[in-house]
Amino acid sequence: MYDMTKSLSSRASRRGVLKGGAALGAGAMSLGPLGTRLAAAQDAGSLEVFSWWTSPGEAPALQALFDAYLAAHPDTEIINAAVAGGAGVNAQAVLQTRLQGNQPPDSWQTHVGRELIDQYVVPGYCEPITDLYTSEGWLDVMPADLVAQATWESEQYSIPVGVHRGNGFWYNKQLMADNGIEVGDTMTVEEFVAAADTLQAAGIPALALAMKDTFPGSQLFENTLLGTVGPDMYNSLFSGEAAWDEAGPREAAETFVTMLDYVNEDFSALSWDQATATVIEGRAGFNSMGDWAYGEVVAKDAVDNIGWVSHPGTAGSFVLVVDSFTLPVGAPSPENARNWLTILGSKEAQEAFNPLKGSIPARTDVDREIFSAYHQWSLDSFANDALVPSCTHGQASSPAFKQAFYDASVAFVTDKDVDAYLSMLTDAAAMDAETSA
Ligand code: GAL
Repeated sequence: MYDMTKSLSSRASRRGVLKGGAALGAGAMSLGPLGTRLAAAQDAGSLEVFSWWTSPGEAPALQALFDAYLAAHPDTEIINAAVAGGAGVNAQAVLQTRLQGNQPPDSWQTHVGRELIDQYVVPGYCEPITDLYTSEGWLDVMPADLVAQATWESEQYSIPVGVHRGNGFWYNKQLMADNGIEVGDTMTVEEFVAAADTLQAAGIPALALAMKDTFPGSQLFENTLLGTVGPDMYNSLFSGEAAWDEAGPREAAETFVTMLDYVNEDFSALSWDQATATVIEGRAGFNSMGDWAYGEVVAKDAVDNIGWVSHPGTAGSFVLVVDSFTLPVGAPSPENARNWLTILGSKEAQEAFNPLKGSIPARTDVDREIFSAYHQWSLDSFANDALVPSCTHGQASSPAFKQAFYDASVAFVTDKDVDAYLSMLTDAAAMDAETSA
């Protein structure tokens, strides 16, 4: 877990060094090379980037962004303040503490949509970057709907670096072949159950679940919900227009119980990437996971042996999970932060980052040919399918509802109590409606 005290004090002492340089700056000439070095350090300064990208697939992708930045600004010291925990389950709590204590990093990772707006913009933690959108021409190269999710009261507040598809269903091709299972271009719940029964009979967990960082439970449900009720009803439920105690959500919760019958026993001990690794290594059949899982596949050099379909029943929909970065109010190095955001919005950085991360670029003018077969498939899905925001990844609903959704799903994975689950979601939606009234 991230040690905030340590990071803040090392930042303070680093500042001390830089300050010492500034004090000596006037005498830089007389100090010779040391003085020049100190003056350069003062100009370059540091850039603290806060994210939760620490897994074997995420870390190299983040490094590609750092490399793109350093290619243009080689003298900056980058401070990687990543906090482990998929979907930001730990990072977001650490960040809140820092923001409330007026200790922002120079830029942090967030999803566009409700997370960006409700959690950070409305409380006053973000500076607008509308001028960068104009000077860099981003409005011309990014889909308007995406930009709209980074916009509040006509100002833009973050720059999207990649668009993940949340409803992936990944499988090990060799394992399927060994067990006589054929996976087509799409999969129904019934087809999954048939494959799962075969795998279970061979002693192989059919569905890799990871509850150490809790989000995979709610993600499995939101994907199952989408597969059951379709994109319109899914949107109505997360926007508070439809009720959770209706037939559709109930059927989805019952299917969720069915799927949970096939999970690995050690799910509470595994992080999401460890669960994905069990599929990559042929120790489990399927993994319902956003395409950051593909980043793990790339990092583990397993592209040829991993197949994918949409989570059962969700072909024709694309669950949006859009990663972006902000400019904080009170950023310690605002110029470096703006340079960082400028790089993130560039074609070069998006072409370097997304092949490693599993996401597709937010820019539409990238070179399609440099992307993998998976990316091509996702690009087509993005262009043609119904785009629905993820609740698990903060885009679809308020932070309070998202938390309730996590809590209810954590309980459900263990107790499988459909009535209790639906009533927790109903209560959370009612509270949300009251707060926003
Ligand atoms: C998501 C994020 C992805 C990926 C995933 C697992 O919330 O958008 O970039 O990192 O969590 O950590």
